[in-house]
Amino acid sequence: MTITRLICAAALLASTSLALGACTDSHSSQGGSTAVPTPVAKAAPEAAPAGASAALPHVVVHKSPSCGCCGVWVEHLRQAGFTVAVENQDNLNPIKERLGVPHGKGSCHTAEVGGYVVEGHVPAGDIKRLLAEKPDAKGLALPGMPMGSPGMEMPDGRAEPYTVELIGRDGRTTAFASH
Ligand code: CU
Ligand code: CU
Repeated sequence: MTITRLICAAALLASTSLALGACTDSHSSQGGSTAVPTPVAKAAPEAAPAGASAALPHVVVHKSPSCGCCGVWVEHLRQAGFTVAVENQDNLNPIKERLGVPHGKGSCHTAEVGGYVVEGHVPAGDIKRLLAEKPDAKGLALPGMPMGSPGMEMPDGRAEPYTVELIGRDGRTTAFASH
């Protein structure tokens, strides 16, 4: 039993069983016919500028093999144009420690991108802004698992406000983006 799993489980429990539904529904709602994809095309033109995606650095996501909401977040990143490699680990704590995720700011998964750490269900747009602005910082953290954040969408559309934090070189955090 790892602390990461405890965080994950506790957050899921705290946001009621609907959170679990969100994770499983997003996979099962396709029904049995996964061979018939129904792409939810966004307004973006089909021939999206390939250069835009190609310019985005590769993302490595460290996650527990048993946590479904991490997988939904990975899909969120891919749809935003990132290429993502997933590393399943039972114990993420050494990784969080190595990458400088402050105590108390943890979530269910930890990503590395462009020399930064990204902890938790941070929206892809915030990551792109981080990469564009290149602040002298360790990265971003969205502690816990706020309802309505990418990968934590509720079936009934419930959402809670949340703030993505910038992790400074000294480990202190400041507000980066409010949602
Ligand atoms: Cu999660
Ligand atoms: Cu996760």
